[in-house]
Amino acid sequence: MSVPATNVPHHVAIIMDGNGRWATKRGLPRIEGHRRGVETVRTTTFAARDLGVKMLTLYAFSIENWKRPQEEVGALMGLLEYYLKKELETFVRDRVRLRTIGRTEELPEGVQKVLRTTIEETKHFTDYTLVLALNYGARTEMVDAARSYAAAVAAGKEKLNDSSWSTFSRYLYTADMPEPDLVIRTSGETRISNFLLLQAAYAEFVFQPVLWPDFTKADLAAAIADYNRRERRFGLTSEQLKPAAAK
Ligand code: IPE
Ligand code: IPE
Ligand code: MG
Repeated sequence: MSVPATNVPHHVAIIMDGNGRWATKRGLPRIEGHRRGVETVRTTTFAARDLGVKMLTLYAFSIENWKRPQEEVGALMGLLEYYLKKELETFVRDRVRLRTIGRTEELPEGVQKVLRTTIEETKHFTDYTLVLALNYGARTEMVDAARSYAAAVAAGKEKLNDSSWSTFSRYLYTADMPEPDLVIRTSGETRISNFLLLQAAYAEFVFQPVLWPDFTKADLAAAIADYNRRERRFGLTSEQLKPAAAK
């Protein structure tokens, strides 16, 4: 489980997948998989911090997930509220800052309320941030950003001629967040499912077969070790990235 301290990804984002299959394999209702998945959220929050990660983003509920059976959606919202209420004290005690990305204003009022409280009570913590992607979809984020940007142009706060990625990206939900360095998806699926499409433009991807309820600190460490073996070139050549002395 050792990871070279020199190259721990600052921001890790995880597409937590496989709760349903975990339960089905055991003859249990899907919601039981979600319940176990919440436990993994807890352990992973602290595992990431132990390994030196500064920001952890977890994809917890997508815009598309509303299309699941009503019973499952209701259970997921209930679990989310329960989890947040239970964790508030832990976040405050262990200095975890909570943030969200997504259209949280469309979540049930009970969830919104506990989110507001938790975000407010943890906003001064600077060492470690947990970001929950809730009712998140990258395409919706793009539309929301375009709308806010257009309004800013109309109000004379932005100049269309000066448009650039650095000005436009300030209108994304992730405005003041660093981009993810490493994106992990569990459950063996190798797709991005509308997650951080723009922000992950230069992220490294690691796909792991483990189902989310079974994900451990060792799996996270393995993904980070994999990340460490990669060379992030950002469009440059490998030679350009070598320190001058090594050339
Ligand atoms: C991920 O597990 C959790 C959410 C999307 C909320 P799934 O519920 O997608 O599990 P599978 O993919 O059906 O196994
Ligand atoms: C992605 O998982 C969304 C979350 C993890 C919250 P899904 O299970 O919803 O994705 P698809 O449907 O397999 O692409
Ligand atoms: Mg899934």
